[in-house]
Amino acid sequence: MEQTPSRRVFLSVAATGVGGLLLTGAGLTPTGNRTTSRTLRRDPFTLGIASGDPSPDGVVLWTRLAPDPLGPQGLGGMPARDVEVEWQVAADENFTRVLRNGVETARRERAHSVHVELDGLEPGREYFYRFRAEGHLSPAGRTRTAPAAEAAPSPLTLAVAACAHYEHGYYTAYRRLAEQEPDLVVHLGDYMYEYAPQGYTAMGGAVREHTAGKCATLADYRMRHAQYKSDADLRAAHAVAPWLVAFDDHEVENNWAGKVSSTGDPEFTRRRANAFQAYYENMPLRGTSVPDGGSIRIHRRVDWGPLARFHLLDTRQFRDDQACQDGLRAGCDDRLATRRTLLGEDQRRWLLDGLASSRARWNLVAQQILMAQRDYRAGPGIEVNMDSWDGYAAERTRLLTGFRDSGAANPVVLTGDMHMHHAADLMLDFDDPDSPKVGVELVTSSIASDGDGYRDKARVAETIAENPHISYLDQRRGYIVCRITQEELQADFRTLDYISRRGAPAKTGARFTVPAGHSTLL
Ligand SMILES: [Fe+2]
Repeated sequence: MEQTPSRRVFLSVAATGVGGLLLTGAGLTPTGNRTTSRTLRRDPFTLGIASGDPSPDGVVLWTRLAPDPLGPQGLGGMPARDVEVEWQVAADENFTRVLRNGVETARRERAHSVHVELDGLEPGREYFYRFRAEGHLSPAGRTRTAPAAEAAPSPLTLAVAACAHYEHGYYTAYRRLAEQEPDLVVHLGDYMYEYAPQGYTAMGGAVREHTAGKCATLADYRMRHAQYKSDADLRAAHAVAPWLVAFDDHEVENNWAGKVSSTGDPEFTRRRANAFQAYYENMPLRGTSVPDGGSIRIHRRVDWGPLARFHLLDTRQFRDDQACQDGLRAGCDDRLATRRTLLGEDQRRWLLDGLASSRARWNLVAQQILMAQRDYRAGPGIEVNMDSWDGYAAERTRLLTGFRDSGAANPVVLTGDMHMHHAADLMLDFDDPDSPKVGVELVTSSIASDGDGYRDKARVAETIAENPHISYLDQRRGYIVCRITQEELQADFRTLDYISRRGAPAKTGARFTVPAGHSTLL
């Protein structure tokens, strides 16, 4: 996809900062900071800026002050006081036409994060934003409001990403994603990993190292998030478009389920609360996602005009423990038990209500774990992953039946977790080739997790032969870019050949089209 010249200029500006604009007539409003003179001596905007959860009249703007990202106690080198942060929204990337500004307090108890929930903006429009604190100016970000519900449909370019283990490789895939300048980014989790240095190693080893220890305390999680955001490629991806984020397991702990720790951690309830707190602080989330009593609300809907409704799911917090001690299992009857839940009763009902009430052309169900059945065993019998929907098969059937019965147009499930691209048809009964197709699933590979990736054509052919509803598999790193119109959804599975060195180009490994009204991949 080609970039327009003006966008290219913007990206380079965003990468280098825009300090020269500080004193222009359109500059940020003066505050008393001038007399207290730069008590923050170093640039506090090292973690960049972000925006998220657009509505027709607003969006959330985010930053977090951290002059020393890996400073002690996870506080990013900030002093023990609150700091006033000015924000500015403009119509243009040079901030010559400033439309809105204000001040928000970066509170120490929230790790000096700032979440500005804007309203009163115009629908379906591009905006630019930046922050200033005590004489320091942040990089500028580009964001966008959602189109109005009654607007004429216009195409949406959507990028889908997941799984970015910091040690396993460089974030070139985030950089390439940013260069495509999507309107919106959906991140499906494993944004960060909780492991100690080398606690989970990729085949090719580590290109860099996690902060000390596995994450357990609030300070640990805060520092780890800061380490991830210190990556310039990740910051560029945030700066280019608003994101819709939802966590998977590693933002807390590998394969956690509800209140159950996969490692038997006796302090898990507290650890989970710490992880949720740091997640909120480091993501462009609305106030509805402020953690409360050790829980967090992540499942939510975002409407994109008449074209798309996003249903973001939480597939961790409300699930029953994995059946049959987790892992890949054959002959596990418990996975079929009708009492078992993945979404929890309330979220399942919320999702089905949201599908039934949707008037959108496309219903994008953004979630974490593989929904299509995947048999890992060649030949007779099936062996499936207890952590994915195969481990909660009865609830999957209820949900896929709900897709059909809700009358919601064109359900498309967006999935992460697998560290491999997949494209699959979703069927009421995966063991019956004549079973109705009720939607499609697009699974994005990882940005970085598992290192360079590879192509194993024999293994791919074997898996597809065993699972005929899966039409594409790719073990290389990458992301998905969807171009969505009234008529069709076109998904480009982008792939990179290596991430152990910087600079890999991204290519389109496969392209699928889903015509509106046909729940199948072409
Ligand atoms: Fe992952």
